[in-house]
Amino acid sequence: MDKPALESSIAAQENSILSTIRKVVIPAAGLGKRLRPATLSQPKEMLPVGRKPTIQHVVEETTATGISSVLIVTGRQKRAIEDHFDREEGGNGPDACIEGDVDFEQLGVSFFFVRQSRARGLADAVSLAEEFAAGEPFVVALGDTILYSPSGTDPLLRRLMQTHLSTCASATVAVETVAKEDVIKYGIVQPRTEIGDAFELSGIIEKPTPSEAPSQLAVASRYVFNVEVFDAIRAIKAQPPGKGGEYQLTDAIRWMIHEGLKVFAVRLRSDEVRYDIGNFGSYFRAFAEMGLRDPEYGADLEAHLRVLLQK
Ligand code: UTP
Repeated sequence: MDKPALESSIAAQENSILSTIRKVVIPAAGLGKRLRPATLSQPKEMLPVGRKPTIQHVVEETTATGISSVLIVTGRQKRAIEDHFDREEGGNGPDACIEGDVDFEQLGVSFFFVRQSRARGLADAVSLAEEFAAGEPFVVALGDTILYSPSGTDPLLRRLMQTHLSTCASATVAVETVAKEDVIKYGIVQPRTEIGDAFELSGIIEKPTPSEAPSQLAVASRYVFNVEVFDAIRAIKAQPPGKGGEYQLTDAIRWMIHEGLKVFAVRLRSDEVRYDIGNFGSYFRAFAEMGLRDPEYGADLEAHLRVLLQK
């Protein structure tokens, strides 16, 4: 077999292995308190970053791996999310041919919605996906965080799925290095083995103080789970809620590790960026950077910002 044929045969094999993960769960039922007043009557996941609402970036990123079933966890005042993913029948209406838009229906992507009646935490939101998962492994991608991988490179989510399947892990989480003083904002992992691009975990802790933190590697809003995660969530929900009075997904992952289940982590590459739009500082940065990447207006925006910054 010549080299191009061999490469395309390997790629085909990889794609068929990855196709065992066909589902994504996108939690989007949080209250968005840190973004008030912008979120008083609209979901934070619908705030635009560049030309698209944040959650559309998340759906595009996850369905680009071949995932074809999307479950969005919504709640009060989140109806705009459901409306957003409807398109006019036949494509002749006002929504037809919007530049840069993606026709998810044509791509064979199906949307499902489930309501979380109270924002009791991420673990509670994920627990609502048990029927949807129907025994299959699935991705969890937070609806308020965009994961940018440069085009033409192997994106984070594909690497996460590959690691999950090749290591036979029960859970695999994306991680990135954060500053020591910032560990208190994140779930922080404890590596069991040497830290490479992918490595096994021996522990995880939600929002530790800098002295408690076992590393500076923070969970970065993308996960792959086997259905054992639902047992883990049931177990932690039999206890009082975790940090912030919420049922934390981090606590469910810790339970899995304690039960002897394999949990792996995959690191973001240095050219990949996590844009969490959950507070104004990071939302402004996300919008500015995505605006600068816009093929039509990016160069103009850059020229404008240069002038502004020189003043
Ligand atoms: P966050 O904890 O960052 O969102 O959850 P939040 O609760 O909306 O934040 P504040 O503190 O009120 O500003 C990360 C993601 O998980 C979802 C959120 O919608 C967000 O996309 N989430 C969080 C749920 O779906 N349910 C929850 O109970 C909590």
